[in-house]
Amino acid sequence: MDSATESQDLLDHSATFAAMTEATPLDWQIVAAHNRAFADDVAGRVLDHLRLLDGDCGGFAVDRLEHSVQTATRAFRANKSDEYVVCALLHDIGDTLGSYNHQDIAAAILKPFVSEDHLWMVEKHAIFQGYNFFHHLGLDRDMRDQFVGHRAYDLTVEFCQEFDQAAFDPSYDSMSLLEFVPAVEALFAEPKNSIYLTEDGQMAGATEPPD
Ligand SMILES: [Fe+2]
Ligand SMILES: [Fe+2]
Repeated sequence: MDSATESQDLLDHSATFAAMTEATPLDWQIVAAHNRAFADDVAGRVLDHLRLLDGDCGGFAVDRLEHSVQTATRAFRANKSDEYVVCALLHDIGDTLGSYNHQDIAAAILKPFVSEDHLWMVEKHAIFQGYNFFHHLGLDRDMRDQFVGHRAYDLTVEFCQEFDQAAFDPSYDSMSLLEFVPAVEALFAEPKNSIYLTEDGQMAGATEPPD
Protein backbone atom coordinates (compact mmCIF):
# COMPACT_ATOMS: atom_id res chain seq x y z
CA MET A 1 0.00 0.00 0.00
CA ASP A 2 1.49 3.38 -0.97
CA SER A 3 1.64 6.14 1.65
CA ALA A 4 -1.32 8.10 0.20
CA THR A 5 -3.54 4.99 0.23
CA GLU A 6 -2.33 4.10 3.71
CA SER A 7 -3.09 7.62 4.92
CA GLN A 8 -6.61 7.51 3.43
CA ASP A 9 -7.14 4.09 4.99
CA LEU A 10 -6.32 5.56 8.40
CA LEU A 11 -8.69 8.47 7.76
CA ASP A 12 -11.48 6.00 7.02
CA HIS A 13 -11.21 4.55 10.52
CA SER A 14 -11.61 5.73 14.10
CA ALA A 15 -9.67 4.62 17.13
CA THR A 16 -11.57 2.05 19.20
CA PHE A 17 -10.28 2.71 22.71
CA ALA A 18 -12.57 4.07 25.41
CA ALA A 19 -9.65 5.03 27.65
CA MET A 20 -6.16 6.05 26.55
CA THR A 21 -4.61 3.29 28.65
CA GLU A 22 -6.28 0.78 26.28
CA ALA A 23 -4.96 2.37 23.06
CA THR A 24 -2.86 0.47 20.52
CA PRO A 25 -0.19 1.85 18.16
CA LEU A 26 -2.72 1.54 15.31
CA ASP A 27 -5.20 3.64 17.28
CA TRP A 28 -2.59 6.39 17.51
CA GLN A 29 -1.69 6.12 13.83
CA ILE A 30 -5.39 6.71 13.11
CA VAL A 31 -5.61 9.68 15.48
CA ALA A 32 -2.35 11.16 14.15
CA ALA A 33 -3.59 10.89 10.55
CA HIS A 34 -6.80 12.72 11.43
CA ASN A 35 -4.84 15.33 13.35
CA ARG A 36 -2.55 15.96 10.38
CA ALA A 37 -5.54 16.50 8.09
CA PHE A 38 -7.15 18.83 10.64
CA ALA A 39 -3.91 20.74 11.24
CA ASP A 40 -3.58 21.35 7.50
CA ASP A 41 -6.34 23.96 7.77
CA VAL A 42 -5.27 25.68 10.95
CA ALA A 43 -4.63 28.83 8.91
CA GLY A 44 -8.23 28.82 7.69
CA ARG A 45 -9.56 28.47 11.22
CA VAL A 46 -7.27 31.26 12.47
CA LEU A 47 -8.55 33.56 9.73
CA ASP A 48 -12.15 32.62 10.54
CA HIS A 49 -11.53 33.55 14.15
CA LEU A 50 -9.87 36.82 13.14
CA ARG A 51 -13.02 37.70 11.18
CA LEU A 52 -14.98 37.55 14.45
CA LEU A 53 -13.43 40.97 15.16
CA ASP A 54 -15.40 42.41 12.24
CA GLY A 55 -17.89 45.03 13.43
CA ASP A 56 -16.64 45.05 17.02
CA CYS A 57 -15.44 48.62 17.62
CA GLY A 58 -15.21 48.53 21.42
CA GLY A 59 -15.48 52.31 21.50
CA PHE A 60 -12.69 52.90 18.98
CA ALA A 61 -13.16 54.73 15.68
CA VAL A 62 -12.48 51.54 13.71
CA ASP A 63 -13.53 47.96 14.42
CA ARG A 64 -11.01 45.45 15.70
CA LEU A 65 -10.68 43.71 12.34
CA GLU A 66 -9.84 47.01 10.61
CA HIS A 67 -7.35 47.76 13.40
CA SER A 68 -5.72 44.37 12.81
CA VAL A 69 -5.58 44.73 9.03
CA GLN A 70 -4.40 48.33 9.33
CA THR A 71 -1.61 47.32 11.72
CA ALA A 72 -0.52 44.61 9.27
CA THR A 73 -0.76 46.97 6.30
CA ARG A 74 1.44 49.56 8.01
CA ALA A 75 4.00 46.87 8.82
CA PHE A 76 3.87 45.51 5.27
CA ARG A 77 4.37 48.98 3.79
CA ALA A 78 7.37 49.44 6.09
CA ASN A 79 8.89 46.35 4.42
CA LYS A 80 8.67 44.12 7.46
CA SER A 81 9.05 40.36 6.92
CA ASP A 82 6.04 38.15 6.20
CA GLU A 83 6.39 36.63 9.67
CA TYR A 84 6.30 40.07 11.28
CA VAL A 85 3.31 41.13 9.16
CA VAL A 86 1.34 38.02 10.17
CA CYS A 87 2.17 38.74 13.82
CA ALA A 88 0.87 42.28 13.26
CA LEU A 89 -2.30 40.91 11.65
CA LEU A 90 -3.01 38.50 14.51
CA HIS A 91 -1.71 40.43 17.53
CA ASP A 92 -5.25 41.22 18.80
CA ILE A 93 -6.97 37.99 17.70
CA GLY A 94 -7.50 37.15 21.37
CA ASP A 95 -9.81 40.11 21.92
CA THR A 96 -12.92 37.90 21.62
CA LEU A 97 -11.93 35.45 24.35
CA GLY A 98 -9.22 37.14 26.38
CA SER A 99 -10.80 40.28 27.78
CA TYR A 100 -8.10 40.41 30.46
CA ASN A 101 -5.12 38.89 28.59
CA HIS A 102 -5.73 39.04 24.83
CA GLN A 103 -2.00 39.14 24.13
CA ASP A 104 -1.51 35.65 25.59
CA ILE A 105 -4.01 34.14 23.17
CA ALA A 106 -2.27 35.58 20.10
CA ALA A 107 1.07 34.42 21.49
CA ALA A 108 -0.22 30.90 22.09
CA ILE A 109 -1.55 30.64 18.53
CA LEU A 110 1.70 31.93 17.02
CA LYS A 111 4.14 30.15 19.33
CA PRO A 112 4.81 27.04 17.18
CA PHE A 113 5.42 29.11 14.06
CA VAL A 114 7.47 32.25 14.82
CA SER A 115 10.84 33.31 16.16
CA GLU A 116 11.39 33.89 19.88
CA ASP A 117 11.67 37.64 19.33
CA HIS A 118 8.44 37.91 17.35
CA LEU A 119 6.68 35.76 19.93
CA TRP A 120 7.94 38.02 22.73
CA MET A 121 6.82 41.08 20.77
CA VAL A 122 3.28 39.73 20.47
CA GLU A 123 3.15 38.47 24.05
CA LYS A 124 4.37 41.77 25.52
CA HIS A 125 2.66 44.20 23.14
CA ALA A 126 -0.19 44.90 25.58
CA ILE A 127 2.25 46.19 28.20
CA PHE A 128 4.23 48.20 25.63
CA GLN A 129 1.02 49.61 24.14
CA GLY A 130 0.18 50.79 27.64
CA TYR A 131 2.80 53.51 27.20
CA ASN A 132 0.25 55.22 24.94
CA PHE A 133 -2.75 55.13 27.29
CA PHE A 134 -2.24 53.61 30.73
CA HIS A 135 -1.72 57.10 32.25
CA HIS A 136 -5.23 58.07 31.08
CA LEU A 137 -6.67 55.25 33.16
CA GLY A 138 -4.62 55.58 36.33
CA LEU A 139 -2.14 52.86 35.35
CA ASP A 140 1.63 53.06 34.96
CA ARG A 141 2.50 53.94 31.36
CA ASP A 142 6.09 52.93 32.06
CA MET A 143 5.18 49.35 32.90
CA ARG A 144 7.33 48.36 29.91
CA ASP A 145 10.43 49.63 31.73
CA GLN A 146 10.68 46.34 33.61
CA PHE A 147 11.92 44.88 30.31
CA VAL A 148 14.62 47.46 29.52
CA GLY A 149 17.66 45.59 28.25
CA HIS A 150 15.68 42.66 26.82
CA ARG A 151 16.80 41.66 23.33
CA ALA A 152 13.35 42.32 21.84
CA TYR A 153 12.62 45.52 23.78
CA ASP A 154 13.31 47.91 20.88
CA LEU A 155 11.51 45.61 18.44
CA THR A 156 8.40 45.73 20.61
CA VAL A 157 8.59 49.51 21.13
CA GLU A 158 8.77 49.91 17.37
CA PHE A 159 5.80 47.59 16.79
CA CYS A 160 3.61 49.50 19.22
CA GLN A 161 4.73 53.02 18.31
CA GLU A 162 5.05 52.70 14.53
CA PHE A 163 2.20 50.33 13.74
CA ASP A 164 -0.15 49.25 16.55
CA GLN A 165 -0.94 52.60 18.21
CA ALA A 166 -1.24 54.30 14.80
CA ALA A 167 -3.76 51.82 13.38
CA PHE A 168 -7.04 53.41 14.49
CA ASP A 169 -7.45 55.73 11.50
CA PRO A 170 -10.82 55.35 9.70
CA SER A 171 -9.41 57.20 6.67
CA TYR A 172 -6.37 54.94 6.21
CA ASP A 173 -6.19 52.98 2.96
CA SER A 174 -5.76 49.49 4.39
CA MET A 175 -5.10 46.46 2.25
CA SER A 176 -7.73 43.73 2.03
CA LEU A 177 -7.57 40.86 4.52
CA LEU A 178 -7.49 38.54 1.50
CA GLU A 179 -4.10 39.96 0.49
CA PHE A 180 -2.61 38.57 3.69
CA VAL A 181 -4.04 35.06 3.32
CA PRO A 182 -1.04 33.57 1.42
CA ALA A 183 1.38 34.77 4.12
CA VAL A 184 -0.86 33.39 6.88
CA GLU A 185 -1.15 30.03 5.10
CA ALA A 186 2.61 29.86 4.54
CA LEU A 187 3.39 30.65 8.17
CA PHE A 188 0.98 28.09 9.59
CA ALA A 189 2.05 25.35 7.16
CA GLU A 190 5.09 24.24 9.16
CA PRO A 191 5.40 24.31 12.95
CA LYS A 192 8.92 24.97 14.19
CA ASN A 193 8.31 24.45 17.89
CA SER A 194 5.92 21.91 19.33
CA ILE A 195 6.02 19.08 21.84
CA TYR A 196 4.49 16.97 19.04
CA LEU A 197 7.53 17.26 16.77
CA THR A 198 10.04 14.44 16.60
CA GLU A 199 13.81 15.05 16.74
CA ASP A 200 13.93 15.37 12.94
CA GLY A 201 11.20 18.03 12.98
CA GLN A 202 8.34 15.86 11.72
CA MET A 203 4.93 15.72 13.35
CA ALA A 204 4.84 12.63 15.56
CA GLY A 205 2.93 9.82 13.87
CA ALA A 206 3.58 11.11 10.35
CA THR A 207 3.30 8.31 7.83
CA GLU A 208 4.17 10.40 4.81
CA PRO A 209 7.87 10.43 3.94
CA PRO A 210 9.59 13.82 4.35
CA ASP A 211 10.01 15.87 1.15
FE1 LIG B 1 -3.47 44.42 21.73
FE1 LIG C 1 -3.63 46.40 18.62
